[in-house]
Amino acid sequence: MEVFEQWESNIRGYCRSFPTVFASAKNARQVDEQGKSYIDFFAGAGVLNFGHNNERMKKALVNFIEADGVAHSLDMYTTAKRDFIEKFVDTVLKPRQLNYKMQFMGPTGTNAVEAALKLARRVTGRQSIVAFSHGFHGMTLGSLACTANDYFRQAAGVPLDHVIRLPFESAPGGGLDNLAEHERALEDPSSGVAAPAAYLIEVIQAEGGVNVATERWLKELQRIAHAHGALFIVDEIQVGCGRTGTYFSFDEMDLSPDIVCLAKGIGGFGTPLAMNLIKPEHDQHWSPGEHTGTFRGQGFSFVAGREALTYFDDDALMSEVKEKGALMAEHLDKLAKRYAGQGFAVRGKGMMQALDVVDGGKAKQMAAVCFENGLLIGPCGSGGRVLKLIPPLTIPEADLKEGLAILEDAIGRVMEEAA
Ligand SMILES: Cc1ncc(COP(=O)(O)O)c(C=O)c1O
Repeated sequence: MEVFEQWESNIRGYCRSFPTVFASAKNARQVDEQGKSYIDFFAGAGVLNFGHNNERMKKALVNFIEADGVAHSLDMYTTAKRDFIEKFVDTVLKPRQLNYKMQFMGPTGTNAVEAALKLARRVTGRQSIVAFSHGFHGMTLGSLACTANDYFRQAAGVPLDHVIRLPFESAPGGGLDNLAEHERALEDPSSGVAAPAAYLIEVIQAEGGVNVATERWLKELQRIAHAHGALFIVDEIQVGCGRTGTYFSFDEMDLSPDIVCLAKGIGGFGTPLAMNLIKPEHDQHWSPGEHTGTFRGQGFSFVAGREALTYFDDDALMSEVKEKGALMAEHLDKLAKRYAGQGFAVRGKGMMQALDVVDGGKAKQMAAVCFENGLLIGPCGSGGRVLKLIPPLTIPEADLKEGLAILEDAIGRVMEEAA
């Protein structure tokens, strides 16, 4: 590990919580250089929905490389990109009767959000964006302005402007009454609150502590956006691509976002890809090449991402996600009941489940004990008080149960020590 400590920037983060050198990985397990195997409840912060080194994607990638497929093409037309687009249309858009244009950009979530913000500002001619408490949208300046976490915001070094912050539905002061109050302000020419370009929302705030919005609240938010000429942007970067038991976290909610931001899991293999779905009437406001990115549309990501979409050809994986998600929730519920006196709470949907242990210090200790015992899990939420479980959707049930047992043991040990 000395090489990293000597040469890698002080900015390195996760390696401090998981201090070992990983050498290989398969599905829901990573193995370090000492041969110790870890169950992965972290999955690259929601990238590896289909597991590490997914066999189907590996084969497709090897075939693509051996056939000298085009690995890098900026945004030129390639066979790999056409195959991906066609598969996405057939698997995701057509069955939902959705009509969206696909925009590829530099392959990170924050780049997708930046592009969405730019377009919303272009379409409306307005500047401000409504974003929510505990929201997380990335690290570049536009996305960071919408991100709520103070630690990240402080690093900007410049003012993070043009954002109106509202409380998320489940945050103090949040809910329908708050939205009504916000709308009254929009309607009052002397309120000092001008109509925004867009409302940017996560259906489930992942980094923010796994806070789940209700359909009713989201619909009201969408109604307000459209009633006041603003765009409704859904950031699906962490909760999309099957994580919640449906392709989009808002499937079955009767919502119609103007822009949907996708990244992380959409590249399939951990191969980076980001894509915005844009309603055609908004897309026409873009001029060619206005939001570029050298690595927009990567050949490997299109190949693996296309293969990932085959998991949605039938209901097999999504019903597994619902079953395994229920098992996770049941297990966490039992723990929350055991520590009800300390205010523990369970939140989540599908295979994004979380235990709020109230105290960030304790959550950190619990994650450290998990690591010692062969489980990777990362805290999130205010002060890191929430243990978030996002294993690969393809995790074998035996690994899932073993991971949950390690977690239970770690919580027990930390709570006993604290008692
Ligand atoms: C909801 C959401 N939006 C945006 C991002 C930023 O993505 P990236 O780190 O790829 O820039 C993240 C990353 O965790 C996220 O969870």
